[in-house]
Amino acid sequence: MNDNKVALITGASRGIGRAIALKFAKEGIAVALTARDESQMKNVSDEISALGGIQPLEIPADLRDISQIPAISKRVINEWGRIDILVNNAGLGYLKPFLEIKPEEFQEMLDVNLRALFLLTQDVLPHMIERRTGNIVNIASLAGKNGFKTGTGYAATKWALRGFAQCLMLEVREYDIRVITIFPGSVETGFGSGGVSPTGTPSQNKIQSVDIAETVYLAVNMPDRTMLSEIDMRPSNPAKK
Ligand SMILES: NC(=O)c1ccc[n+]([C@@H]2O[C@H](COP(=O)([O-])OP(=O)(O)OC[C@H]3O[C@@H](n4cnc5c(N)ncnc54)[C@H](OP(=O)(O)O)[C@@H]3O)[C@@H](O)[C@H]2O)c1
Repeated sequence: MNDNKVALITGASRGIGRAIALKFAKEGIAVALTARDESQMKNVSDEISALGGIQPLEIPADLRDISQIPAISKRVINEWGRIDILVNNAGLGYLKPFLEIKPEEFQEMLDVNLRALFLLTQDVLPHMIERRTGNIVNIASLAGKNGFKTGTGYAATKWALRGFAQCLMLEVREYDIRVITIFPGSVETGFGSGGVSPTGTPSQNKIQSVDIAETVYLAVNMPDRTMLSEIDMRPSNPAKK
């Protein structure tokens, strides 16, 4: 089913991006990884090789720097000739009271969570339009649909992502390109402050990265006529002991 499919995954050095890369590779998809941390990316790549997956491409890049973005998709197209799935996953959140968020922290969230995703999608989309096929997967957050204390900056980027994704979905589905946006609640990763989520869910009851990876895989393998355009993910029982 996945013969010759190619995925580009941002934020693939750890957390949710790593889990998506491992799941895709296990299913026979060739994965291109991008992130800043080269040694963590190499670890993910080694894990994939150990599983017998296709040797990943490792593309170091800092998404805060727009000059580094065009080379990411160029490298994948040069090496593998196509991108079937773009996973816009890289992101960060400074979760703290509004008056404590520094201008440079707000800027970093805007640059990585929104601007880089916008620009990278612009780079990848023409190749998908040319082939009239493709999946663009965005990892948003339930913070992109609900407000919470300490979320002013982070939620603003994720609400903006939702607006971007809805508009893009309507523009590109006529080319048989799906735009799939996932809105997870708290996921057990090193993201943010760790421990308890803004909604108070204890860490052992949180969604796991592998759950997101399974969902992304399911969504990109739906029958061609169907698109899961928005997916909310919550713990099924946050209070379970
Ligand atoms: N964990 C949660 O509770 C949760 C819930 C809902 C949504 N999300 C979303 O899920 C996505 C992944 O989160 P996660 O939990 O997996 O976080 P994580 O473990 O902190 O991983 C974040 C990833 O983003 C990359 N990244 C951050 N800044 C970057 C930059 N300037 N340039 C390039 N890459 C950068 C990191 O790579 P390097 O540091 O190596 O560059 C890392 O691979 C984010 O968009 C987040 O908003 C997370």
